Amino acid sequence: MIKTISANKLEVGMYVILPLSWMSHSFIKNKFLITSRSQIEKIIKSDLKEVNIDTSLGKDLADKIVPDEISPLVSNAVQKVVPEVLREMIRDPNLAPEKKAHAVQHHSREMMKNLLESPSADNIGEVMTTISEIVDLIVTDDETNRHLLNITSHDFATYTHSVNVGILSVSLAKALYGQSDIHDMHALGAGFFLHDLGKVRIDQSIINKPGKLNDREWKDMRRHPDFGFRILTETNKLNEESRIIVLQHHEMNDGSGYPLGIKGSDIHPYGRICSVADVYDALTSIRPYKPKIPPFKALRIMQKEMLHHFHRDVFERFVLLLASAEKT
Ligand SMILES: [Fe+2]
Ligand SMILES: [Fe+2]
Repeated sequence: MIKTISANKLEVGMYVILPLSWMSHSFIKNKFLITSRSQIEKIIKSDLKEVNIDTSLGKDLADKIVPDEISPLVSNAVQKVVPEVLREMIRDPNLAPEKKAHAVQHHSREMMKNLLESPSADNIGEVMTTISEIVDLIVTDDETNRHLLNITSHDFATYTHSVNVGILSVSLAKALYGQSDIHDMHALGAGFFLHDLGKVRIDQSIINKPGKLNDREWKDMRRHPDFGFRILTETNKLNEESRIIVLQHHEMNDGSGYPLGIKGSDIHPYGRICSVADVYDALTSIRPYKPKIPPFKALRIMQKEMLHHFHRDVFERFVLLLASAEKT
């Protein structure tokens, strides 16, 4: 049901319909679910006195007021692990590539945040379905893919890192494998986006430690590939591609990686792809004990100081991919 309400009565969890075309305001779409107070403030600042809300897709005016975060009791639309708006944006043929890329990046982070907070079998399944749609977008829409590669959001929250590594790795797999149907790109995408799923079983004080890890903490952290494998097995969501990626994304070409310390050709090409994207994203992200390193400098460090960690051809293809995304 559509209702007209005063803009200052808007709440997180409402599905708003702005009475303007999308070109007249700073939102990507004029219909969306409100997920933060800052969106409400932006609407009020744009001088809108009244807006419409769709109470079948979000919260009604009379519902209990919730604080800044989305309440799990608000509505079915809000409870879903995958924001409905993410699917809408991916499928919208009229959305400009740059806006689509920003929307996909933003709402994918929200999706991964939800999943890492609640990694149930149903949620993993739903997220995998949406990852397949993101993979199709990357594979078929070069322009949106290029914008996705140029978006920098590097706070190193695990959910942000998962999205960055997912996008970088799928793009690299696309560059390496082209349109070949030997590789199941949907299964690869699931492995790349979920490569760090096992971190949900690591003590969060270790994940969020504002400093370098001590030996004991590091030993715990190195268990996350195995935990990720176990979660996918227990939830019956494991496929061969995800198994390889989750277990091998920290293996290094010279055998100095973990958990097995395998080297060279013993590391599957899918593991090599994820490893390059993973290190690049770690270097270009802010951490409490280090600033972010600019992309070009990060690639120089990887080439000069870390090349023995990577498969040379995969690394060189990655450099070309980023260079071509920046140039065009
Ligand atoms: Fe990892
Ligand atoms: Fe990672």
